Amino acid sequence: MTNRTLSVADAIRTRRTIRHYRPEPVADAVLDELLELAVEAPSSWNLQDRSVVVVRSEEGRGALARAAGGQPQPQEAPVVLVFVAESEAWRGDRTDIYQQAREVGAWNEEFVAGFAAESLAFQQGLAARGLLREYAVKDAVIAATYMMLAATEAGLASSPMNGWDEVEVKKAIGIDGRDDLAIALLLALGHPAEQRPHPGRRSADRNVFGEVYGRGRELG
Ligand SMILES: Cc1cc2nc3c(=O)[nH]c(=O)nc-3n(C[C@H](O)[C@H](O)[C@H](O)COP(=O)(O)O)c2cc1C
Repeated sequence: MTNRTLSVADAIRTRRTIRHYRPEPVADAVLDELLELAVEAPSSWNLQDRSVVVVRSEEGRGALARAAGGQPQPQEAPVVLVFVAESEAWRGDRTDIYQQAREVGAWNEEFVAGFAAESLAFQQGLAARGLLREYAVKDAVIAATYMMLAATEAGLASSPMNGWDEVEVKKAIGIDGRDDLAIALLLALGHPAEQRPHPGRRSADRNVFGEVYGRGRELG
């Protein structure tokens, strides 16, 4: 990592959405470590129902730029990360996840049995209510958030992006027509070619409440 002096709090405070990038590449070792940190993110039932497609080629980034309505970030940034939500992953085999947790002593046999049954029932409930996509997207977006903060710590800039056509993004990353997968977020990553001032946030009393929604928080 190029910059290990930032605390998490500093990374949160100094991160900005950067829309213009210098062409120099992101070093492989740095990118690998950032990806490792991104998948450290928690996920519902430890499903790990999100993936990251790393797009570095000119052609791939061009396709993403077009899918994003010509926004400059995918074209200029040397790396674009596509966070994919895997809404149907819970139906697949998860013995590897349980095995890992058993091996390190995090979960015992009894816990695994209960967890597997409860998570299945929970996911079936989501399926019945049409919420599978929404829940997988949450997990993907948390991973993207980890990535943004880790990138800031590494001295890199990023830009989260919602403005794209999902069908086109899917085509660009080779999952055309896959209804079991959803695009959660695009994240451009690279060396900044601009500085952006903090646009500000509403004061906490607009967005932070006490006990019930809309009620001011008593301080102290
Ligand atoms: C989920 C999400 C999607 C966004 N999509 C875009 C986008 O498509 N294009 C863009 O230029 N900025 C996008 N932004 C950046 C926001 O405009 C930016 O975060 C906001 O203005 C606050 O600025 P800051 O990130 O520098 O604090 C997105 C941000 C988030 C969190």
